[in-house]
Amino acid sequence: MTARDRAVWDPAWADTAVRDPAAPDRAIRETRPDHGAIWRLTLAAAAGTAASLGAIGLTATSAWLISRAALHPPVLTLMFAVVAVQVCGLGRSVFRYAERLTGHDAALRVLASIRVRAYTRLERLAPAGLAAFRSGDLVGRLVSDIDSIADRWLRVLLPYAAAAVAGAATTGFVALLLPSAGLVLAASLVAAAAVAPWAAGAVARKAERRIAPHRGELNAASLDLLRGCAELVAFGAVDEGLERVCDADRALRKAEGRSAAGRGIAASVTALAAGGSVWACVVLGVSAVRSGVLPGVTLAVVVLTPLAAHEVFGGLAPAAQQLPRIRASASRVRAVLRHPDPVHEPSLPLPAPAPPYDLRIENLSARWSAGVPDVLSGIGLTVPAGRRVAVVGPSGAGKTTLAMVLLRFLDPAGGRVILGGTDITELSGDTVRGIIGLCAQDAHVFDTTVGENVLLARRDASMAQVRDALLRAGLLDWVDSLPLGLDTPAGEHGARLSGGQRQRLALARVLLAGFPVLVLDEPTEHLDEQTADTLTRDLLAATDGRTVLLITHRTAGLELVDEIVRIEAGRLARPGRLRQAGAATQA
Ligand SMILES: Nc1ncnc2c1ncn2[C@@H]1O[C@H](COP(=O)(O)OP(=O)(O)OP(=O)(O)O)[C@@H](O)[C@H]1O
Ligand SMILES: [Mg+2]
Repeated sequence: MTARDRAVWDPAWADTAVRDPAAPDRAIRETRPDHGAIWRLTLAAAAGTAASLGAIGLTATSAWLISRAALHPPVLTLMFAVVAVQVCGLGRSVFRYAERLTGHDAALRVLASIRVRAYTRLERLAPAGLAAFRSGDLVGRLVSDIDSIADRWLRVLLPYAAAAVAGAATTGFVALLLPSAGLVLAASLVAAAAVAPWAAGAVARKAERRIAPHRGELNAASLDLLRGCAELVAFGAVDEGLERVCDADRALRKAEGRSAAGRGIAASVTALAAGGSVWACVVLGVSAVRSGVLPGVTLAVVVLTPLAAHEVFGGLAPAAQQLPRIRASASRVRAVLRHPDPVHEPSLPLPAPAPPYDLRIENLSARWSAGVPDVLSGIGLTVPAGRRVAVVGPSGAGKTTLAMVLLRFLDPAGGRVILGGTDITELSGDTVRGIIGLCAQDAHVFDTTVGENVLLARRDASMAQVRDALLRAGLLDWVDSLPLGLDTPAGEHGARLSGGQRQRLALARVLLAGFPVLVLDEPTEHLDEQTADTLTRDLLAATDGRTVLLITHRTAGLELVDEIVRIEAGRLARPGRLRQAGAATQA
């Protein structure tokens, strides 16, 4: 099995963070913002620096003003300090607002660009490639993991950049007043910005890295529980289902607890650094005033400025502590972005062939992953344009697999499929799916109205065309009998529709799309015999004149097809047996 094949089918292996320690760095590099966002982030960092300097300057000037005012000097000598207090006070708020505005704008741009890339990738992976990810976990990757990546810029790098400049300027200023106090401040700021997150990391780095995967596991287990709730209740297995969720929850809580312990340690180091620096500055300042090195009026400035600087630095450690979690999230998103294509798209796809769309399947074999036996082998079938062929066979024979190959959702392992004279592997998947339409075995009904569900196939279709498609699918009478008609909500997964209505809705969708070649995969699945017979006849009547491959394991109701072929264990049992329309058949 090649690395590519393994990555397609093994989610743990596909998760690059699990097996490649350098992957998080590559992941971070790959999710870097574009130039526009970097420019905005730089502006935000500049505004953040100015806001921090404003906050520190406000404390320093206020401290000087209060001390100086206590000596009752002429008011005019205080004017400069009064103006400075006003400028710093106003500047702090204005620049903080500008920082939030530009910083969030940049972060939202980063988010949007990564999300669009991830969704574009998912579109390429669906449906075969998505089997490598569990849906709840995938939702976690698309939502919270991508949010975390934006946090790296907004909540870590940006505050660090602003604090570094403001901290250096403040340290320089305090050192000018009293060099020893400047040294103390520099050391305490390094402790708050670097030692505190390092100490937190020593306790919780491993836990931080595990939080994102544990959250993905909890999402997946919860979704599984919700989806399978009815079955679990029916089989009395609710406790086991809940236990899985509880296990995932316990693992996540343990990691979160460890992370909180790390945050606690970081908070104590930060508080110690802030308090220690203030006390050290009091001691150094008082002795400097006593020895005449420092004017008494600036003592308050030397003591209170470090306090203001530590307020700016206070949020850095908890933010930096999240870096391992952010790196793990970036890896998980990268695993989606870098997941190998389940189907090879040609580098120079041929243009769409012209009608008629004869379909020729030659010696076709297919498998779902490398290293496993072929699901289909030696399939040969010719379906001239306009012919209707039923593909029958027992469950697991490979009928849906054949549909997946025809739709370019799965590459042939051998042999060819020729559509209108062109090998489909030389066409892009979208081109093939513009000609061949699929009514899937478990077609998804969206949680919107019945009308919207049909319109999905052709957004520019008129109401008359939607109604015509519903009529041909045998659903119009039912829709018209509803008080809300086409505006009736279908419910989640079509929960407000019966099984037969769901199938007919899916059929109406493909009829509206007007594909010249149709693959109908088990359209009568889950229906009672009588309804299934009626639906089969209805859909064959509705697709008259088109090329149809009707996949079914039912043999009744097939009088209208031109040919019936049977697949057994991946092989054509009676290849190309021509069947006269109207004759009874036992497949
Ligand atoms: N996504 C998949 N990943 C891996 N193996 C798959 C996948 N889908 C199908 N298979 C395997 O391929 C084989 C054929 O499955 P397929 O779905 O084509 O059968 P089928 O004839 O459509 O059955 P049914 O009538 O029950 O729908 C089965 O052994 C199945 O386990
Ligand atoms: Mg099937």
